[in-house]
Amino acid sequence: MMILENLKYLNTILMRYYLIIIASALMSCSQSKVSTKESNVEEKFIDSVLATMSIDDKIGQTNLRGTSSRAKTLSDELKEDVRQGKVGALLNVMKVEFVDELQKIAVEESPSKVPLIFGRDVIHGFKTIFPIPIGLAASWDTDVAKSSSRIAAIEASSVGIRWTFAPMLDIARDSRWGRIAESPGEDPYLASILGKAYIEGFQGDSLNNPTSIAACAKHYIGYGAVIGGRDYNTTIIPEPLLRNVYLPPFQSALDAGVATVMTSFNEINGIPATGNEFLLKQVLRDELKFDGLVVSDWDSVVEMIAHGYAKDEKQAGEQAANAGMDMEMTSRAYEHHLKDLIKEGKVAEHQLDEFVKNILRIKLRLGLFETPYRDKNNEANFYKETHLAAAKEAAIKSSVLLKNSDILPLSSATKVALIGPLADAPLDQMGTWTFDGEKEHSITPLKAFKAANINFKYIRALTHSRDKSKKQFQKVINDVKGSDVIVFVAGEEAILSGEAHSRATIDLPGAQEDLIKVLSKTGKPIVLVIMAGRPITITKIIDDVDAVLMSWHPGTMGGAALQEIIYGLREPEGRLPLSWPKEAGQLPYFYNHKSTGRPANKKDYVAMYDIPVGAWQSSLGNDSHYLDIGYTPHFPFGFGLGYTDFEYDNLQISKDTIGFNEILNVKVSVTNVGERTGKEIVQFYTQDVVGSITRPVRELKGFQHVNLNVGETKEVTFKVSAEQLKFTNHKKIHAAEAGDFNIWVGPDAESGLKDTFYLKK
Ligand code: BGC
Repeated sequence: MMILENLKYLNTILMRYYLIIIASALMSCSQSKVSTKESNVEEKFIDSVLATMSIDDKIGQTNLRGTSSRAKTLSDELKEDVRQGKVGALLNVMKVEFVDELQKIAVEESPSKVPLIFGRDVIHGFKTIFPIPIGLAASWDTDVAKSSSRIAAIEASSVGIRWTFAPMLDIARDSRWGRIAESPGEDPYLASILGKAYIEGFQGDSLNNPTSIAACAKHYIGYGAVIGGRDYNTTIIPEPLLRNVYLPPFQSALDAGVATVMTSFNEINGIPATGNEFLLKQVLRDELKFDGLVVSDWDSVVEMIAHGYAKDEKQAGEQAANAGMDMEMTSRAYEHHLKDLIKEGKVAEHQLDEFVKNILRIKLRLGLFETPYRDKNNEANFYKETHLAAAKEAAIKSSVLLKNSDILPLSSATKVALIGPLADAPLDQMGTWTFDGEKEHSITPLKAFKAANINFKYIRALTHSRDKSKKQFQKVINDVKGSDVIVFVAGEEAILSGEAHSRATIDLPGAQEDLIKVLSKTGKPIVLVIMAGRPITITKIIDDVDAVLMSWHPGTMGGAALQEIIYGLREPEGRLPLSWPKEAGQLPYFYNHKSTGRPANKKDYVAMYDIPVGAWQSSLGNDSHYLDIGYTPHFPFGFGLGYTDFEYDNLQISKDTIGFNEILNVKVSVTNVGERTGKEIVQFYTQDVVGSITRPVRELKGFQHVNLNVGETKEVTFKVSAEQLKFTNHKKIHAAEAGDFNIWVGPDAESGLKDTFYLKK
């Protein structure tokens, strides 16, 4: 009997080895997406592994154990749990020797010998830090997004990390929300194409390349819609809104072959995302055909208790399992209860098998069965020259010039006073979610100015962004006397944005505004540079400064990028990926809002101070606006200045009417009418004028980057078809509808040349 058992085991092992070879050979010539042929081999392999696993081994695979990256030793308890097959993946194991040791235990000593995956939040770079994601989104550049995630993958995989919890694809329309820093902004189209590029970078040509890491589209779904921008809060998202705004970036991630998806912390219409069968089974699996791994967010399974959706850990586990959530991050409801839940018939055993298959599939695609250990040829690829150059390029392409009263670029002869709490803040300029970047490598503006031999004087003035002290003000005024221009690097420390760091007011904290006001009285021109994790309301100081340059938290090379921009070696190339508010009270605000029955307009606008005292109570003439700040953002979505000017002209459409199978060509001429070569991002918007449900006033449908020499004109063409005009209505019909459409081609969401066409049935 014993011999027979052993033979059976040996056979299984041999079979498994044989299948690994075939599966891996197929995988290595594949892209991240898997063909039917490959998938048959994959499934056979997965079934063969599953067949050898006990129920405990299977439950072990669903366990993503969190650890602290600051741990100095590997605990015996963790090693024992891995040995016993109680762990499927690990988060935050950052010492390579620990990674190697734990993997060795898993593949040599655990009952099923299934390798572990090591995961980490590699969000905008690993060691070489790129601008925060909202900054990268401002580049509107898929090459920038892709190169940032490729470099992050190369660096992170060298220490054994094969799974990142990125990209974050939450549409975010409220700058109070701290996690707007991690988001792709407010537009589903921009978020979709950037998301795809990030995934291509992380996952490389093939997931089983040792420098590829599995990406994770997060947070599924609606997290950015938290009420009032308060983190972890409730969301209320009607299905058409879900499908038209929040889902497209995830759809695009799936099309790009994203390996994993993370459920979000929030509830949606009363049901937490982690226990939401409709979202996970119906939408993600049945409709979108996702065959990768779904992971919960940190403790989001047991947080269903606090949500008031589960009475205890066991019920939370039951709800997550029946909703189709495969792997539990950090909490242990599956580990503690899944076996009993299956015994009691509350969760079907085949459901657990599905989870394990989804997990094994990703492990197989990552090549872990064949090569469980990190590639020693790819060691410590950190801060390479090419990585730093890409980070600087990304920072230049992410910087958005919001105001320029003929002050920038500065000439090299200008004597500058470099002031402000962010001018030399190596940690803060890296931004949120930078666990592995080391501040010693940051090139701050101060460092960059020194390296470039700039004629300048550095005055920190405020120790950090929240410093309220005005003690130094008089000294600063004296110190700037000999300078021609003040470059004030203001903003927020990194810790003021990111997870759980929402703000109700989003102006410059501490005494920064006061100092700017005081400095403006000196009569010296002020260039305000902002480093922050979100748009900062600057209505109170905009008239006191001559230029405003948003550099977000620009990462390791931020200072070097800024120095080149300020002195005109390069121009700021970014455009806003969100509407920049005048006041926090205006939030949420997004350009692609609906019209309302009383759309705000210039003619009817009633300003608060224009209302006569004792005026008769009336709503006539009042539209959807604020009496005090109007109805527009400070700067619209898509806005950004360069160092030259462009003119749009000669908008032409190929037809006035198109059928459902036809394509409309939209052409426009763009001319560089300024005095230096420059880049414009030409944006194309549509509006479906009347719909079976009301439609946004504008929607971005395309954009192109054009480089133009002085006086040069280029014709830019966009194509529109019914496919791009589809939306989901209240009856869940996803289709384009016949009728009138407005189109605009221009430099932002509030301007542009306009035309119309008709879509005919
Ligand atoms: C965040 C996720 C992150 C996870 C692991 C959570 O708190 O919401 O975005 O990936 O932690 O660190």
